[in-house]
Amino acid sequence: MSAFERIVILTGAGLSAESGLSTFRDKGGIWARHRIEDVATPEAFARDPETVLEFYNQRRRGARGVTPNAAHQALARLEAEFAGSVMTVTQNIDPLHEQAGTRNLVHMHGEILKVLCTHCGARAPWNEDLTVDLACRRCGNTGGMRPDIVWFGEMPYQMDRIYAALTECDLFLSIGTSGNVYPAAGFVAEARAAGAHTVELNLEPSEGISLFAEAIHGKATKVVPAYVDRLLHG
Ligand code: OAD
Repeated sequence: MSAFERIVILTGAGLSAESGLSTFRDKGGIWARHRIEDVATPEAFARDPETVLEFYNQRRRGARGVTPNAAHQALARLEAEFAGSVMTVTQNIDPLHEQAGTRNLVHMHGEILKVLCTHCGARAPWNEDLTVDLACRRCGNTGGMRPDIVWFGEMPYQMDRIYAALTECDLFLSIGTSGNVYPAAGFVAEARAAGAHTVELNLEPSEGISLFAEAIHGKATKVVPAYVDRLLHG
């Protein structure tokens, strides 16, 4: 029987690495091959929309062909079987958490399989490549159809809901994230200030390692199912 009642889980690119998706800051990662300011800011989209759309077209093609791994599945099992509440907040734009069965999920950095119209704010599921001449199905304007992704300089989604959960949680798990990008990198401090037990599950110590009460380092498909078993079965 677990001593905890309310769990918040933060996940990052390391969780999906063993499904075949690149991380950002590891050797050979996405930010070693592309400059953030060229592909992941509103200014880049205004200056050179073709380059930005092509960068995300590659991400979307990659996300279509992958499946959840044992770590995604273990987190879905935790949500289904845990007696208390579980909220998963992911920085990942892939659909692997929901494909594994996680339901109480926040995609704080958006979703690669959705499109957003900058003219009218319409959002819709989107599986194909995006092009600059695509017209919005709601307002009819062209040139403003972008992936529904939070870029650098923009506010991540559902921050009020996330902070409310952080201030109430008694266990905070940070999984597969390097702790470089705020506000997500600051969640451990919020949870800690609220009195939660804080645990890092990552391949290596993250930037925020000193703020965690407990850390287990190893591959997500190994350490996450083992930690979930411990929580569910003691
Ligand atoms: P990073 O690439 O910064 O960090 C990934 C972390 O996962 C690193 O600490 C790795 O050591 C770890 N890792 C790699 N393989 C792993 C494995 N098999 N098992 C467990 N851990 C593993 O990715 P994020 O922290 O997710 O935002 O990056 C945060 C944000 O920066 C992203 O959401 C994205 C990016 O720029 C936006 O684009 C807005």
